Amino acid sequence: MTEFAARIRRATMAEHREAETRSFISRLMAGEVPYDGYAALTAQYLYIYRELESAAARMRTDEVAAGFADPLLDRVPSLEADVEFLDAAGVRPLDATRRYVERLREQCHHSAVHFIAHHYVRYLGDLSGGLMVGRKVAQTYGLGPGGIAFYSFLDIPDAKAYKSAYRTRLDALPSVFAPAELDVLVAESQLAFKLNAALFVEMGTHHSSPAAA
Ligand code: HEM
Repeated sequence: MTEFAARIRRATMAEHREAETRSFISRLMAGEVPYDGYAALTAQYLYIYRELESAAARMRTDEVAAGFADPLLDRVPSLEADVEFLDAAGVRPLDATRRYVERLREQCHHSAVHFIAHHYVRYLGDLSGGLMVGRKVAQTYGLGPGGIAFYSFLDIPDAKAYKSAYRTRLDALPSVFAPAELDVLVAESQLAFKLNAALFVEMGTHHSSPAAA
């Protein structure tokens, strides 16, 4: 049985809808987050992607995970440039960011199923809604290209084709992982969404005034 890409999408659909409609991200999409809130979010992402991409570097020696850990996706150089541009280098990690980074550090350096779960939630999201978020923040804050490098995948000009190939790799997982491992992967991707949601909630408590105020 394959169609694993459809299974993981279905299993995280409710969490996805919540991220889209009820969070800090939806206010970002409405142009209601102050500039310093956007800068602070970018700084949080840098902490998270440093850990995720440090795990990716290790996972390139894993036969299955290596297919996902494509260096063309790497966001750390873009995030470093954005954080500098946005003058956010001094922003400390929030508690939710620390918890997210800790989970990545504990689970994703040695376990391909955990790594792929976290990889899927961030990068497939970045290549989907992330592109829309990038266009919106460019418009809200008058940024570009400085400050929004995170949202542009210059090495991946055809996001649709890339995502399609990615889903083909997801569909191949049932031939290499046992059913119990696939269950862990699905559960971890749900947890990854929750860790993102917790970050948006905490961001919202720190940056709640409208951008236009
Ligand atoms: C305003 C916020 C968001 C919008 C408008 C949005 C929009 C979308 C859209 C339209 C797709 C479908 C793309 C396609 O089928 O090719 C998608 C997929 C996805 N998004 Fe989002 N998204 C948002 C936030 C998020 C967040 C916060 C995350 C996770 C941190 C996320 C993770 C994902 C993932 C993993 C997929 C791939 C689903 C799959 O096909 O398996 N998204 N998003």
